[in-house]
Amino acid sequence: MESIYQYYSQGIWKKSESGETVEIQSPYLKKTIGFVQALTQEEVDQCIQGAKEAQKSWAKKSIYERAHYLQAWADELLKMKEELATTVMQEVGKAYQDAVKEVERTVDLIRYTVDEAIHSRGQSLNGENFPGGSRSKLAVVERVPLGVILAISPFNYPVNLAAAKLAPALITGNSVIFKPATQGSISGIKMIEALAKTNLPAGVLNLVTGKGSVIGDYLVEHKDISMVTFTGGTVTGERIAQKAKMIPLVMELGGKDPAIVCEDANLKLASKQIVSGAYSYSGQRCTAIKRVLVHDSVADELLSLIKLEVEKLSVGSPEENATIVPLIDQQAADFVQGLIDDALQKGATLVLGGERKDNLIYPTILDHVTKEMRIAWEEPFGPVLPIIRISSLEEGIDIANASEYGLQASVFTQNIDQALTIARKLETGSVQINGRTERGPDHFPFIGVKKSGLGIQGVRRSIDSMTREKVIVLNINE
Ligand code: NAP
Ligand code: G3H
Repeated sequence: MESIYQYYSQGIWKKSESGETVEIQSPYLKKTIGFVQALTQEEVDQCIQGAKEAQKSWAKKSIYERAHYLQAWADELLKMKEELATTVMQEVGKAYQDAVKEVERTVDLIRYTVDEAIHSRGQSLNGENFPGGSRSKLAVVERVPLGVILAISPFNYPVNLAAAKLAPALITGNSVIFKPATQGSISGIKMIEALAKTNLPAGVLNLVTGKGSVIGDYLVEHKDISMVTFTGGTVTGERIAQKAKMIPLVMELGGKDPAIVCEDANLKLASKQIVSGAYSYSGQRCTAIKRVLVHDSVADELLSLIKLEVEKLSVGSPEENATIVPLIDQQAADFVQGLIDDALQKGATLVLGGERKDNLIYPTILDHVTKEMRIAWEEPFGPVLPIIRISSLEEGIDIANASEYGLQASVFTQNIDQALTIARKLETGSVQINGRTERGPDHFPFIGVKKSGLGIQGVRRSIDSMTREKVIVLNINE
């Protein structure tokens, strides 16, 4: 009998009055692994009201008191590492070893966030430093929490990308409404079970489940939500941005990260980095390399090296730590298949792959991809790599920048001046020189521009975005 999981509100695990649940199917076991509650609007409202009330006393606690709960949470997560990794594996089809790494990375992230927040400093400004000003005014600038933060996470990092929002929100004195991706919510529930074990004060963290399409608008539009921190698809992000009131938003959205390979690149290194970047977790990473822009003169050699690397990839079950695993659902596989079919119809060359078994797409390489093909622009979130041949670096930069996305880019060259020149011209949040595109380490600022996002994540920047400056001016009569 599969478990029926409850939602978490006011420090209590509860069943929804709706009597309805959402069924969670494993993407590779092809069976139901549990049910989560489908909350009503009234229940969502109760969670938010409880969070609003609880935030007042939570913010008054000293940062060391709040740190105590978060450190204890990290300890609990570590204790249940194997159990949580197994849930992540079964729920979102991530290779077991990668799921274990995700939990370990999350423990480090929570601890680092606590340290970073503890070492935050305010500022004081003396009036005399402005023309005509005087020492009689002294401004004390401190950072204060925003209130109730709505944290919405995606399926592909159900633990790490949730904690990347919850930890900075909580340590800085906010309360949280956590809405995990439905496919990923059992993992979310388990990580909150660990947090609940720390005896966190009731109402400080509330976990709501149910389809985003049903409760999402209500959550985002709620008058008592002070900020939305969201990671997910661009279409969802744009909807949230339209619905949200005048509150801060941080959005990490889709990507179409290019790898630009110059004539002088170390092709062996480039091929290894590109394959690892493009195919890990079947390409279900926002930062996956999603197109290669390679100079004509080295394209054949690079392609044969990439092909050799891709042929080595293991395909199969997350339980066997395969790199290429079934995609999150059938719909995702249909979408990737559609992109492959469109490219082949328009004249792309199938170098490898093109096969499919249900939602398992075999690693696919498409050569001679042109600007007319959908795969040149759309994010597959699957294991398919389009190769676009370019005749000059300017052409490569133009194609890279013509994308509506702007998350990251990789540049492969042995000429550092050339690398920096290209990096400066690319319209992305980050540029990796001679390495694959990736978010970590988690204290680096993580930025999506254009349709890849709004605001900045990364430990320090998340702390900043979940607090605001407050100025108290001392008027001194000397
Ligand atoms: P998604 O479908 O956009 O879902 C993300 C979250 O939004 C889920 O919790 C979802 O809940 C919720 N949601 C859906 N409709 C909503 C609404 N109307 N209002 C509020 N919330 C709503 O994305 P995904 O499929 O989980 O993740 C894949 C996408 O995320 C890819 O495009 C990927 O590039 C992007 N991503 C970006 C980053 C980054 O840091 N840039 C990181 C990871 C993923 P339900 O699950 O209940 O629908
Ligand atoms: O899916 C989006 C994640 O932010 C990517 O993180 O680069 O560590 O895999 P990653």
